[in-house]
Amino acid sequence: MRYPRVIAHRGGGGLAPENTLAGLRLAARLGCKGVEFDVMLSADGVPVLIHDETLERTTDGRGPVAAQSFAALRALDAGGRHGAAYRGEPIPALDEVLALCAELGLWANVEIKPSAGRDAETGAVVGRMLAARWDGDGVVSSFSAPALAAARETAPQFDFAVLADAIPADWRQRLAAGACRAWHCRADADAAAIAAVAAAGVPLACYTVNDRATAERLFAAGVAAVFTDRPDLWAPGEM
Ligand code: G3P
Ligand code: MG
Repeated sequence: MRYPRVIAHRGGGGLAPENTLAGLRLAARLGCKGVEFDVMLSADGVPVLIHDETLERTTDGRGPVAAQSFAALRALDAGGRHGAAYRGEPIPALDEVLALCAELGLWANVEIKPSAGRDAETGAVVGRMLAARWDGDGVVSSFSAPALAAARETAPQFDFAVLADAIPADWRQRLAAGACRAWHCRADADAAAIAAVAAAGVPLACYTVNDRATAERLFAAGVAAVFTDRPDLWAPGEM
């Protein structure tokens, strides 16, 4: 498995509206080689990029994402809350995100973020879309084991990562049970556990790292990559 060292978190990190095409374009402009984004289903089953289960924080909509059709989600403004320059930026569908990543040559961490009760359905939809539309580099992850299992069933050719805040004592079993090749966890996960996973040759990626000193400490401990809201802290050649 190949990881870029610095992965823009939620598209373009905190420098653009999260989980938008504008964010991906900014990440690429800054020299990022990899991006992470969150995928959830609309009411009618279209995979879209959004982090929260509700619309208020990042859009001008209201209520649950899962209650809105793709057409309704598409009409919302997902950029204005970040800044006037981004007003009108839409919630993107996964297929257009994959196309843009391919066009920009971006490595992609597709994080499956199912709304409550739609774990397997979301995983299967995302897996099917990846199988049909993605031949780029990257990894699929999720906090939801059922979502990941469903994605793997529909797209076994991809690499999968366990996504968990920490590294539990049974991390080897967790990887094996999910047929996962990598581990994504918080940057403040136990240092001894980070060292053990890295020493075993399992790629580790940590979130969310918004200063270079922490990133350097993690790289020195064997961490392969960091997710950051501040990709501008690195020069293009360093990422
Ligand atoms: O996938 C890494 C990171 O994005 C997980 O946390 O809540 O930002 O999706 P969150
Ligand atoms: Mg995420």
